[in-house]
Amino acid sequence: MNVTEKAQELIAGFTESFENDTFVKLSLGNYRGPDASLKNIYVKKVLIKKEPRLSLTYRHKTRDITKNHTAEEFTGMLTQWLNADFRVATLQTLTSDIRFEVHPSGKATLKKEAVRQREMPSDSHDKSKNRLISPKNKPYLFDLKITDQQGNVYHNAQDKFRQINHYIDILSSLIKEVAPSGRVTVADMGSGKGYLTFALYDYLKNVLQLDPHVTGVEFRDDLVALCNQISRNAGFAGLHFEEGTIEQYDAAGTNILIALHACDTATDDAIFKGIQAGSDLIVVAPCCHKQIRREIEKHKVENDVSFLTRHGIFLERQAEMVTDGIRALVLEYFGYKTKVFEFISDAHTPKNVLIVGTKGHQTEKAQAAALQKIRDAKQFFGIEYHHLERLAGI
Ligand SMILES: C[S@@+](CC[C@H](N)C(=O)[O-])C[C@H]1O[C@@H](n2cnc3c(N)ncnc32)[C@H](O)[C@@H]1O
Repeated sequence: MNVTEKAQELIAGFTESFENDTFVKLSLGNYRGPDASLKNIYVKKVLIKKEPRLSLTYRHKTRDITKNHTAEEFTGMLTQWLNADFRVATLQTLTSDIRFEVHPSGKATLKKEAVRQREMPSDSHDKSKNRLISPKNKPYLFDLKITDQQGNVYHNAQDKFRQINHYIDILSSLIKEVAPSGRVTVADMGSGKGYLTFALYDYLKNVLQLDPHVTGVEFRDDLVALCNQISRNAGFAGLHFEEGTIEQYDAAGTNILIALHACDTATDDAIFKGIQAGSDLIVVAPCCHKQIRREIEKHKVENDVSFLTRHGIFLERQAEMVTDGIRALVLEYFGYKTKVFEFISDAHTPKNVLIVGTKGHQTEKAQAAALQKIRDAKQFFGIEYHHLERLAGI
């Protein structure tokens, strides 16, 4: 029959789009091959050590497996699959959709349709867009009063919109480090009105083209009801908001844990949930640091540098640094690689430090070193306990 010929045409379309950087994604379905559990294969372009590669997600009945290949390797595999194993393949490029199908009669067809507008996934070489979240066609941005119905950002929401994009920009590079594929489970602890939760879901789903399951955890029932309504309006099937406390949330299976400006020790509760869940990425922007401030004030240790905590403003800043420094050490104790940096200009908020933990390997030596530093810091500043250290039981 004509299967080989139509398969060759699809492969030629793929090769051309890959070479001229218009490839968006390819999916294979209606599997008839020897693997009883395989259902689909989804293909996207990724950069690995700055080299373009194809990331293939093999969707089985109960799990996903991801493998990366060069374009040459992939083309060989695609030839075999189209000729023998899959009856449907859809290639999406920036300008067209091409559908290959083998019908029950054994005859193959190839249908090509032009598309008007399509965004390039961020892992491509396209650097022309500065904003990862575009304001157009985003019902959630309208519902959150960031844009009007035509997708124009309101004058008084420009700062918020920039902040959302800046946050996604930072998260995008952190997410790339942990390279999730297929299904990814995210918890946003203390999600508030959900500006960032919606944007993160949008980014994971529509830019990275993952299968995100995002939960916003929030104890204010009015915000939870509002956010769930907005999520439904947006058709975000994998985004839900749960009413409850961070402490009580069951984070098992969470790959990425986020907590932005969760008050005082709620940040510790969130970090601990991430550690317990073995999350690949933990990102927190702490808010107030009252617990450690009270500890320092209570014990009033006298040493050569106690002048640094004598004045209220210095005490506040010391409490902030000591609290977050110990948080980073606790993460390191559990094998996380940590980074602490400023993430937005303090024109927006003075609470602008981000603590990032990326899961690595736990070693006894690193554990002992982190533990010793925590003990020394506590002794130096007269701290009986740090909330996260207590939760972690170290
Ligand atoms: C300052 S807002 C930040 C909202 C959002 N993360 C952001 O950055 O835009 C903090 C939110 O966390 C919620 N929150 C604080 N502690 C919490 C806890 N222990 N459990 C659940 N929600 C909490 C508050 O109700 C509030 O909505």
